[in-house]
Formats: sequence, structure tokens, C-alpha cells
Amino acid sequence: MKNVTVIKHPLIQHNLTRLRDERTGPQEFRRVLSEVAALMVYEATRSFNVVPFKVKTPIQTTEGYKLKREVILVPILRAGLGMLDSILQLIPHARVGFIGLKREEKSLQATSYHKSLPENLRDFEVILIDPMLATGGSAVAAINLLMERDATHVRMVNLVAAPEGIRQVREHCGNVPIFTAAVDERLNKKGFIVPGLGDAGDRLFGI
Ligand code: PRP
Repeated sequence: MKNVTVIKHPLIQHNLTRLRDERTGPQEFRRVLSEVAALMVYEATRSFNVVPFKVKTPIQTTEGYKLKREVILVPILRAGLGMLDSILQLIPHARVGFIGLKREEKSLQATSYHKSLPENLRDFEVILIDPMLATGGSAVAAINLLMERDATHVRMVNLVAAPEGIRQVREHCGNVPIFTAAVDERLNKKGFIVPGLGDAGDRLFGI
């Protein structure tokens, strides 16, 4: 699938399996999701543009690099919060925006209940964070909100994606790069990813 990167690093796959395991309780789920998010972000940021500039070491002047654009992390509430802190530790200068979306159980439609974003995102590298890409309804709604703020450099980091969700993002949001640890088989009738890991928000927060 175009512009979908499945990150097969052994540590990521090891941790993903612990998250899939139904015996993993909220405390461990939070810790492992946080660890895996930090590992994933290395790959997800690999193509960030840098600009060269001169830096003076104690010995002599040399060429260094800095990121071309400001970075903003945008977790989709609630479950995206589980990946935020560890990514923020790796990119401490990043800003943080929030998008609150809730998927209605029957219709599977995502409804927006919160948005906190800068007025203009044109010059930002935006990393949209959500452990689950299921029907893709939440991702499409979130990307549309980012586009309304003129975002031009958006990438998504999902722990697990369903083919249906990837197709939905492709159909409605063009070529937004997607980074995931797994593309699972399919969705079940209730809109859960199979085999997936259940409801990430519930497993993170115990409700
Ligand atoms: C879940 C999940 C994603 C979304 C994926 O969130 O965390 O945000 O559903 O589903 P979709 O691709 O079909 O839209 P949910 O709406 O249950 O909210 P929560 O994170 O607060 O639990």
C-alpha cells in the first residue's frame, strides 16, 4: 500500500504482541504503549527536512543541521494520549494540539467534541497520533480539521491499522503518510480491528 510504512523493528513487534495480549492490564498497557510510541517515532520522523547551518564547535566551525519546520504533535483523544508523553520526550520542543473524537458504537461515525490547534498549520510538521486506525472515520475527520488550518505536512502514527481504514484515508485525504506497527486482517461487524487489541482507550484508562 502506497505511503504506508509497517515498522517491523523487533522491539516494536515484541511490544505490539504484549499490547494485543488480553492479559495485559491498564498499568502495563500504558507503559508498553508509551515505549512502542517512542520507538515508532524514529521511523515516522525519518523524512523530516533539515536545513544546514554553521555551528562553531570548541575546535572549529562546521556544518550542522536543524529541522526545517516546527513540529506539532496532535493526539486524537482519548487513546492518542497514551502515545503522547514518550514522543514528547524525544521531541521536547514540539507543540501539542488536541482533537477530541468519539466513535458512536452503532453507526461508527466519529463526532468531534474538542479541538485545540494553532490558527495556521502551514509551516508545521504535524504528527497525528492514534493507536487505532479502524474504519478510518476518526482519521479522516482529524485530517480534515488539520487541513482546515492549512496543514500541508501531515503524517499519521497508528499502532494498528485495518485495510478498510487505510483505504478510507487514501480516498478522502490523499497521500498522507501512515506509519503503523501492523496492518491487520479486517474489521468485524462491530468495527473492531481483527485480531487487533480491543478498544485501546478502554484498555489504557480502564473504562
Ligand atoms: C477509537 C480509537 C480511534 C478510533 C478508531 O476511539 O482510539 O480514535 O476509535 O476508529 P475509526 O477508525 O473507526 O474511527 P474511540 O472513538 O473509541 O474513543 P476513545 O479513544 O475515547 O476510546
